[in-house]
Amino acid sequence: MGKITVSLIKADVGSVAGHVTVPDELIRIAETSLLEAKENGLIEDFRVFKAGDDLELLMSHRRGEDDEEIHKLAWETFLKAAEKAREMKLYGAGQDLLSDAFSGNVRGLGPGIAEMEFTERKAEPIIAFMMDKTEPGAFNLPIFRIFADPFNTAGLVIDPSLHNGFIFEIWDIAEHKKVFMSAPEEMYDILALIGGKSRFVIKRVYPKEGKLPTDEPVAVVSTEKLYKIAGEYVGKDDPVALVRAQSGLPAVGEVLEAFAFPHLVSGWMRGSHNGPLMPVSFNHSRCTRFDGPPRVIGAGFQLSNGKLFGPVDLFDDPAYDYTRQKAMEITEYMRRHGPFEPHRLPREEMEYTTLPKVIEKLKDRFESI
Ligand code: F6R
Ligand code: MG
Ligand code: MG
Repeated sequence: MGKITVSLIKADVGSVAGHVTVPDELIRIAETSLLEAKENGLIEDFRVFKAGDDLELLMSHRRGEDDEEIHKLAWETFLKAAEKAREMKLYGAGQDLLSDAFSGNVRGLGPGIAEMEFTERKAEPIIAFMMDKTEPGAFNLPIFRIFADPFNTAGLVIDPSLHNGFIFEIWDIAEHKKVFMSAPEEMYDILALIGGKSRFVIKRVYPKEGKLPTDEPVAVVSTEKLYKIAGEYVGKDDPVALVRAQSGLPAVGEVLEAFAFPHLVSGWMRGSHNGPLMPVSFNHSRCTRFDGPPRVIGAGFQLSNGKLFGPVDLFDDPAYDYTRQKAMEITEYMRRHGPFEPHRLPREEMEYTTLPKVIEKLKDRFESI
C-alpha cells in the first residue's frame, strides 16, 4: 500500500467579531474544496477545523511531504476562503496569505504546516493538536513531556519498546539551523535549548531502534514564524502538531496528560503577552477574554488505510475541568500585571511590535547618566 502522509495546514484568513472565531461560511468553502480533491483522488481523506480564528485543513494522501499539488490545494482553498471573507467583510480577511504568488510550496507564504509521511501500522492512532493565540514554542513543553519525561509518560519506564527513548529534531529558528538530540542521554542539553522556546523549537520526534522505522517521524510541529516571513508583525504564528500514539509510542492518555498543566506561553493579546495554555473542546475554541487566553484543541483519529476515523474531541472531558479552572486562575493573576512583564513579553520579543517606534521617538530625549 506504501506510505501515507498526513498534512495539517492552517491559516487565519478572516474571522468574526474581531479575532474570535472562523464562521461556518468559510468552513463550508474549505470542505467543498477538499471534498472535490478527495473525489478527484488527490487526497485520501480530510477534515476541516477551526481553532479560534484559524482555518485548519487536515488531509491524508499518498504524495509525501512538501508535495506541490497538496500545497497548491491548501493554498487555493485558503484563497477561496479569503475571497469569501473579503466579501463578508470579515475581520483580517486574507491576513496570513502573505504572498500573491504560489510557487510550488506554501512554506514561507504565511500558512503553518505540520506534515509527516510514515508506514501506517496495523492500527494507527493519531492526534491533531491546534493552538490559537500562541507560537510554535508552545509545543516544546508538552512534546518534551510526552516523549522524554517519565513523570508524564509511564511507558518510558515500563514499556521495553519505549525504554530507549526518542530522538528530537530541534530547530534554531533565528539561525535557521537544526540539531538531532537523543533523550534521555542528552536530556539536560535538550532542555537547555528548548526552555528558550521563542528561539529553539521541537520540529520532529523520531523513534529509536525498535518496533517502528527510525526514519519516520512520530510527531511533527509547525514552526513558521509569520513576523520572520513578513518582516513585521502581521498576525500570530498559532501552531499545530501531529502526534502518533500507542504500540511502541506513548499512549493516547500519556500524550494528553502533557496538556493537564496550563503552562505559560506567549502570543496572547497583540502577540505580546504571556498567558496559560488552556485545553478546550472544539466548541470552546473561541478566544474572547483579552483575545484569549491561548487555547489548544485535540482531535483524535484512527487512520485506516488512509481514511480518517474520528474526530474525537479529546479535551471535551470533565477530566480537563481542573486544568481549565487553574488556567483561569492564572489568567486572572497574569492580567493583574497589566502592561508589566512577565505578562507583557520581554523587550527582545516585542521587537516586531510598536515598542521600537516608542523608543525611536524618544531617542533624542535620552541623556547620558
Ligand atoms: C490576533 C490576536 C489579537 C490582535 C488584537 C489587535 O490573532 O490575537 O490579539 O492582535 O485583537 O488586532 P488588530 O491590530 O487587528 O486590531
Ligand atoms: Mg485573526
Ligand atoms: Mg489565530
